[in-house]
Amino acid sequence: MKSKASAPGKVILFGEHFVVYGIKAILCAINKRITVTAEKVEGNKISIKSNIGNLELDSNKLISEINSPLKPFYYLADKMIRNQNTGIDIKVESDIPLGVGLGSSSACCVAGAAAISRLFKETTKEEILEMAIEAEKTIFKDTSGADCTVCTYGGIMEYDKKKGFIKIESKPNFHLVIANSNIEHSTNSIVAKVREFKEKNEEEFSRLCDNESKLVEDVLELLKIDNIKKLGEKITENQKYLETIGVSNNKLRDMIQVGQKTSFGAKITGAGGGGCIFALTDMSNLDQTMNEFQSNNYDCFSVKIDFKGLDTF
Ligand code: PMV
Repeated sequence: MKSKASAPGKVILFGEHFVVYGIKAILCAINKRITVTAEKVEGNKISIKSNIGNLELDSNKLISEINSPLKPFYYLADKMIRNQNTGIDIKVESDIPLGVGLGSSSACCVAGAAAISRLFKETTKEEILEMAIEAEKTIFKDTSGADCTVCTYGGIMEYDKKKGFIKIESKPNFHLVIANSNIEHSTNSIVAKVREFKEKNEEEFSRLCDNESKLVEDVLELLKIDNIKKLGEKITENQKYLETIGVSNNKLRDMIQVGQKTSFGAKITGAGGGGCIFALTDMSNLDQTMNEFQSNNYDCFSVKIDFKGLDTF
């Protein structure tokens, strides 16, 4: 018996880093997916095959002793086959670039939790999300859960670290052009760098938090009336705050300048220091913006919001 599930990646549209200090962020799922196929097999081995490598281990190993980015899959499979006489084969296929802040690991956890658990029982989205967050914690102990949440439910949402998420009901029809710096980043170390900035500049940081909070409230209103030009201005404004807290660099700044030439606005998405930026466009400037990035030799692709979230087959 086989079970298959897919989950989308994500973009943080507004509020990364400030969300760590209690400010609301706005995220959306994107139409790039990870698909996981799980199958019960004879024996008691858990075997995972993916385009970032393979992992094959007996069940019942200590999670802390496994050193692999595929660890969340092992965790999920091992938990399900406790006291069951079976092994599991898992296949992972991804069209989300890995490790650049587009939610590949959260999408893996969500699609993995769904595909693996459904070999054994029917599960609700809520149960799958809970399992996915547990699995993600095996690699990012301090995850807020925002990424797994948007990968499960899809669409666009506001996220508050303490209060959780609220789905935004409007369905904006914009295109995001994502450009990849191809610089890998460590979210943990950039979050630590921002903490240092905050400790050295308490007043300035608190002012930035107030500005970000106001900006997010303005964006929530703009989303209701679908004002893409004004949204673009807010994106560019948000980028200024990210520059101030030190998560940008020359390459990212150059990419953002290229993006801003033809789009409505451009900014870093995710932790920064590397990873991706995005530019907000619609059909009037999508091709021009793609061309600008390409003629400056930057890897780019366009995405739309994914409204489906987790899908099971
Ligand atoms: O891991 P990334 O690149 O998607 O970014 C994490 C977002 C931060 O706000 C920087 C950290 C967090 O836990 O929210």
